[in-house]
Amino acid sequence: MVPLAAADRRSAEARAYLLRRGLDQAAEERFEIGFAPDQRYALTQALKDKGFDDGLIVESGMSAKPDGGGQIYDRFRGRIIFPIRDGQGRCIGFGGRSMDPNARAKYLNSPETPLFDKGRNLYHVASARAAVAKGKALIVAEGYMDVIALVRAGFDGAVAPLGTAITEDQLRLMWRISPEPVIALDGDAAGQRAAQRLIDLALPMTGPGQALRFVVLPAGQDPDDLIKAAGAGAMGALLDNARPLVDLLWAREIEGQVFDSPERKAALDKRLNDAIGKIPDEATRRHYDRELGQKKWALFGGTTGRRGQKTGPNGRKSASTAEVKLNSLLPAEGLLEGASLLICALRPELIGAVETRIERLTPKDQNRAALLFDLLSHSESPAGRQGLETLRADAHLGLTPSVICSQDADAVAAILNNLLDRLEAQRAAGAELARAEAEIQGEADEGLTWRMQQIARARHRAERPELETSGDMNEDRDALSAQLSGWVNEQIWRKPPKR
Ligand code: UTP
Ligand code: MN
Repeated sequence: MVPLAAADRRSAEARAYLLRRGLDQAAEERFEIGFAPDQRYALTQALKDKGFDDGLIVESGMSAKPDGGGQIYDRFRGRIIFPIRDGQGRCIGFGGRSMDPNARAKYLNSPETPLFDKGRNLYHVASARAAVAKGKALIVAEGYMDVIALVRAGFDGAVAPLGTAITEDQLRLMWRISPEPVIALDGDAAGQRAAQRLIDLALPMTGPGQALRFVVLPAGQDPDDLIKAAGAGAMGALLDNARPLVDLLWAREIEGQVFDSPERKAALDKRLNDAIGKIPDEATRRHYDRELGQKKWALFGGTTGRRGQKTGPNGRKSASTAEVKLNSLLPAEGLLEGASLLICALRPELIGAVETRIERLTPKDQNRAALLFDLLSHSESPAGRQGLETLRADAHLGLTPSVICSQDADAVAAILNNLLDRLEAQRAAGAELARAEAEIQGEADEGLTWRMQQIARARHRAERPELETSGDMNEDRDALSAQLSGWVNEQIWRKPPKR
């Protein structure tokens, strides 16, 4: 590995590659980015010259032994190198990005070594922990380049798994750092699959203090691409609108299906109940059940059921207690509505795609209602203008006009759709709670059956014994780590100064 700072002809290509990707020397230094020349024995020879024996060099993962025997050779060749440090900042391995677009493996990582346990570490974890302690969000991206882009954009709490899918151990590690990491997945098929796996992995572990949120990036973009294309503000806006695990579970279970028969609806119930049954914490399970019930209601019966509105003794309709409680718990409806209107007003080119959704908004505020009318009819009125001015000045909306105006259309459209999803879900929730109250007796019986099923399930669920590392193993790890850190710090790959 050759530090890019070192004057070396071979590093010119690497430096050019990094510059093409927008990484300057400050970034190279901050992330200790290095370079492995496209040579078979460069590092191996440098290590041998330092007096290390073949066995240790291979054990560290820096060199490999040919299958048929013979000289050990450099594992990383022609690659940009990212050192990987563990939670205590000790170097435990490396990731290498090929500069050749036709390389067989785009990324190559250190193999599993006594030191480098891919499933139990995260890239950039030590720095991210420090950032989270200072109030930053813990953001989990897919790749090294994403972490670097996020950190450079001010999201210092970024980490990534190490070339494998996220594991249980990595989830535990994340939750030791933050109760609600935000998973930022690439907007491609692989990102979607990763999200699906993660839902199944996380459900049996989720509960208070162990939650997840998800940001799904626009199709074909990862955080690095998004930040480059649309800026840190767009990334921030997506992160602010990250969705909880329950939303992803729901989306997965209903995706591409039509629920036009009792059997299909029952099949959905069963899948959702199976998923909920995996949640160990009782209160969390109950809330999942309720929230998924609300979503089902919105999907199946959103326009028919008008129950829950009780007629009071004086003959006037009064909202049920449940509805009142919910509304006071969820004052966000007005904010969601306001933010949606503000975005539409500032980015009118987006209105076409959401027209039918915003038509259903029924602002109570007269000026907002006028603004909505203006937006839909491409007109302007004094009341509408007043509505817009009020929204522009409203700091509670969490979206400043300059941010909305500066972002690319896809990112803003994603935010707008998210706001409208949430708004619709909340409206459905209010109605569903009212219905639930009206049917409280029936539900109580069902709840009892369900709880009994859960107890039976819990009995069958075997406790996984915690994996323990022995003391000896730890000592070995420490020694090898110190060795690797030493190699990095001494920059042993550097050519000796010319005499
Ligand atoms: P991606 O393929 O999404 O690449 O892999 P990327 O992060 O966008 O990288 P650039 O922008 O093209 O450089 C995400 C992560 O998956 C692992 C690496 O850890 C990478 O950071 N990976 C990917 C591998 O381990 N091997 C591969 O061949 C590809
Ligand atoms: Mn990328």
